[in-house]
Amino acid sequence: MEPESFGGYQTQLYLDGLSGHRPSLPCGFAELEERALASMSESVREYVCAPAGDGWTQEANVAAFRTYGLMPRMLADAGERDLSVELFGRTITAPAFFAPVGVAGICAQDGHGDLAVARAGAALGLPVVATTLSNDPLEEVIRHVGGAPAWFQLYVPSDWSVCESLVRRAEAVGYEALVVTLDAWVGGWRPRDVTASNLPQLRGHCLSNYFTDPVFRARLARPPEEDPQAATLEWAAVFGRPLAWSDLDRLREMTSLPLVVKGICHPEDARRARDAGVEAIYCSNHGGRQANGGLPAIDCLPEVVAAVDVPVLFDSGVRSGAELVKALALGAAAVGIGRPWVYGMALGGTDGAVHVMRSILAESDLLMAVDGYPTLRDLAPSAIRRVPTPGTS
Ligand code: FNR
Repeated sequence: MEPESFGGYQTQLYLDGLSGHRPSLPCGFAELEERALASMSESVREYVCAPAGDGWTQEANVAAFRTYGLMPRMLADAGERDLSVELFGRTITAPAFFAPVGVAGICAQDGHGDLAVARAGAALGLPVVATTLSNDPLEEVIRHVGGAPAWFQLYVPSDWSVCESLVRRAEAVGYEALVVTLDAWVGGWRPRDVTASNLPQLRGHCLSNYFTDPVFRARLARPPEEDPQAATLEWAAVFGRPLAWSDLDRLREMTSLPLVVKGICHPEDARRARDAGVEAIYCSNHGGRQANGGLPAIDCLPEVVAAVDVPVLFDSGVRSGAELVKALALGAAAVGIGRPWVYGMALGGTDGAVHVMRSILAESDLLMAVDGYPTLRDLAPSAIRRVPTPGTS
């Protein structure tokens, strides 16, 4: 398979400009974010933006990337770059994926953001992590991913029978990995959302995976279609399980799908999860939405990578190709894009999410060209230096 030339997107956009066509969405994050937030209703905007606490960790996730810089290498014969990576037995054309975002459904203008991102994955052949907190049920979401890998993100419910039902449903329709989120079994303190009493799920949004689940429905006196409020309160009762290591063993026994644990930042936790038989570690702090005062996720990545011999996925704070390439150099096998694709999708549906991902990958590819790192193997920790005085990108 020929490596895909992601940088070619830039040439395409320049050439389109010659015939008077400009991209309908910006290619840089700052303007994208500004326009997307302006397009959202207040409650959706607040839910997407509101950080844990005063936002220190959320900001630090982004700022910490500025304390790393790539060392350029010249004459490196980098005319062709190969960004492909193998994950869970499949070759993926680029080390990037659409991170799970629970309110994506209502971020889309038609309320079907979960389908829009699935189609974006299909268009690019990149993995889509479908979230438990989805506006469309997981069976419908996967119908839109085409041949791209679909992974199911699981919030482990307090009721094991509901958990098992979700897992069996994901297996039955062909999800290729189970991404178990460890850092959100309880809601983190988000003062802005608390002040505004803004939790979309409690207003009945994004609960379709529960409301269509036979085991969840069996817990209800009346079906959600007749009594949505009672069903929503039951969801609140069942949503989160205070997770312990024994729960990971139970999940391991429950499924033979590749298991990925999301939210690992400590190398000892990574090692222990590896020993419990997971296929990949996902280093993330939930974008700083769960626990304020925590370390920037990118600063945790190298130790996690050093601790295990399985792929380490990463997200939190990636806004452009520069951060993506730095995360790869620090050892990530693949990088999750979170808010940027949501903003693209909010403005332009599937095409918007595709544009954002292509822009990030174009920059990544061009950085690897200019800086002389033609393959992911070349992007080793030796490619990166700590910046004594933090820069601006
Ligand atoms: C998330 N994230 C998330 N993670 C998860 O495992 N399940 C989920 O349902 C959600 N929902 C969610 C909603 C919103 C609005 C955001 C912004 C994020 C976390 C997500 O997968 C990822 O870890 C972060 O988005 C990474 O941070 P940045 O790079 O987007 O700041």
